[in-house]
Amino acid sequence: MSKLFASYIIKDLELKNRIIMAPMCMYSAGDDGKVTDWHVIHYASRAVGGVGLIIQEATAVESRGRISSRDLGIWDDSHIDGLKKIVEAVKSNGAKIGIQLGHSGRKCEAESEKIIAPSPIAFNEEYRVPAEMTKEDIKAVVAAFKAAAQRAKQAGYDVLEIHGAHGYLINEFLSPVTNKRTDEYGGSPENRARILKEIIRAVRDVWPKEKPLMMRVTAEDYVDGGNHPDDLAELINLVKEYGLDLIDVSSGGVVSVAPKAFQGYQVKFAEIIKEKTVLPVVAGGLVIDPNMAEEILQNNRADLIFIGRALLRNPYWPLQADYELSNETNWPVQYERGRLRKR
Ligand SMILES: Cc1cc2nc3c(=O)[nH]c(=O)nc-3n(C[C@H](O)[C@H](O)[C@H](O)COP(=O)(O)O)c2cc1C
Repeated sequence: MSKLFASYIIKDLELKNRIIMAPMCMYSAGDDGKVTDWHVIHYASRAVGGVGLIIQEATAVESRGRISSRDLGIWDDSHIDGLKKIVEAVKSNGAKIGIQLGHSGRKCEAESEKIIAPSPIAFNEEYRVPAEMTKEDIKAVVAAFKAAAQRAKQAGYDVLEIHGAHGYLINEFLSPVTNKRTDEYGGSPENRARILKEIIRAVRDVWPKEKPLMMRVTAEDYVDGGNHPDDLAELINLVKEYGLDLIDVSSGGVVSVAPKAFQGYQVKFAEIIKEKTVLPVVAGGLVIDPNMAEEILQNNRADLIFIGRALLRNPYWPLQADYELSNETNWPVQYERGRLRKR
């Protein structure tokens, strides 16, 4: 059996394999943040295709925390019923499901919203200048993450992922490039991590102890004066004791500079975070070849692998990967006659 298709246990959750579908915004919700048929079909298809754990796209904890006016939302109890439909469709097709709780901060492009951030600096000239967050705003955002975690529990998700990456609100606090505050939420690593610590504690108050809590991080800002993997490891070490179980390692998005992307370009960052935090990690970013995924796992460079765009192109990526690696996994019985076979 390949390691990619070996099961993985974290807390009370057993994954049938180590393939994680990366969170990817579909910009297909109504402008009220509600789930549409698209989401149910899209996520259920990847469950049929053999993904072990699906992480649902960034889902906004406040309406001003949306990236666009078509983002999914979890800021109101009226969102729960639609989210349940996604959860049920995924679980009944053999995969586990997590939800990424997000707040876009200064990168909110929904015109109707007033936008907030740790400091009043626009992302670039095409974006609006955000209002500097008051202490009340900070309290409101922490409370919004908590209420969202409670709703996620009600909807039945297996895993919760805090979106701390890609230059959105939490990341804006963590990075010295976007956080110029002079109060207790800016400056030292302890101060920049303070809101994250408060969010983790608030979420952990309502998210069951036996269920995993993940966080997605930007481990590399790709700019002088920004965070690098060692900095992120230090920030994670300051907050992990409050209940983080797994780190999903990504990069970029703090400044508008595109990283030089090549196959596996973020794997080294995941390796550093794993070593320095001693937490399990998910690695990915242009991992498209199953043999590369297998190499990363066999060499203990990461514990799980995330796959993004390859799963947009092909929902059956896991089934085809299994064929290339060991051809042992079960196909959906309805598709058994289409199974790839080695002669
Ligand atoms: C259409 C699209 C939407 C995305 N939305 C999110 C998102 O909601 N949250 C997130 O953390 N990353 C998001 N990402 C980044 C992916 O999760 C992933 O990290 C990135 O695509 C690199 O992995 P890949 O090379 O396997 O695609 C998105 C990427 C794409 C292509």
